[in-house]
Amino acid sequence: MILMKKFEASGNEVIRVNDVTKQYDNGTLALRNVRLTIDKREFVSLVGPSGCGKSTLLRIMAGLDRPTTGTVEAMGSETKGIDNASFVFQDANLMPWRTILANVELPLEMQGTSKRECREKAQNALSKVGLSAYFGHYPRQLSGGMKMRVSIARALVSEPKVLYMDEPFGALDEMTRQRLHQELLDIWMNSDLTIVFVTHNVFEAVYLSDRVVVMEAHPGRIKQIIPIDEPFPRNKDFLSSNSFGERVRSITDAL
Ligand SMILES: Nc1ncnc2c1ncn2[C@@H]1O[C@H](COP(=O)(O)OP(=O)(O)OP(=O)(O)O)[C@@H](O)[C@H]1O
Ligand SMILES: [Mg+2]
Repeated sequence: MILMKKFEASGNEVIRVNDVTKQYDNGTLALRNVRLTIDKREFVSLVGPSGCGKSTLLRIMAGLDRPTTGTVEAMGSETKGIDNASFVFQDANLMPWRTILANVELPLEMQGTSKRECREKAQNALSKVGLSAYFGHYPRQLSGGMKMRVSIARALVSEPKVLYMDEPFGALDEMTRQRLHQELLDIWMNSDLTIVFVTHNVFEAVYLSDRVVVMEAHPGRIKQIIPIDEPFPRNKDFLSSNSFGERVRSITDAL
């Protein structure tokens, strides 16, 4: 099955950032006049130098922080953030005393979901990331890549509409990172998920995304938005193609 997924202005917006400015209490202007619209099922990456406000923007989009001025609209209604969103960070942040199954059950447990439904959904989420043989393991028994998979499963278990990922693969070796790219794209293509992904890695951004948002610092703002109009699924051929090299070059130039 060839699934074409390109960015088009479909009018099917999930989230809209309206002129967001963020000034922290110490005076740092982390974001200035950021405008960005993201469509349902889009995969959008944010790249830019350290301190340009990528994490700040992601937190504000997810409703974990408030803008100083401007608004974030989710699903057409103005809100502090989006209800149905999950976050994945670079550090998997698992509870060492819980099995991986119990770690993935936790978000549902906190919502008051029945024990049985927690178990079923957590098992299902762990299976999606290839960990069905590890339900009873503890985090210390897993590799870094496996811990990240658990973290992704924990984010998916509550069936979010938007997945916010802040440098999730930054600490992984290249081979593990590439495997996780493929797994993440598979999950994304087989769902209605919208993904907003922060990375320092231009190759990663081009490989994964429908669009790459290039930011600059002092104050943090959007410099350019580069569409990666290549079909999905993507594979190693794309990585070695001229088109890939050209995209990487135009983003590197913009940086
Ligand atoms: N809680 C805070 N209080 C004050 N300043 C902050 C706070 N969080 C971030 N900043 C500042 O805001 C700016 C943007 O920070 P942010 O963490 O969003 O950048 P980033 O692009 O994610 O950087 P990195 O690539 O290093 O993760 C930086 O100058 C940072 O020092
Ligand atoms: Mg950051």
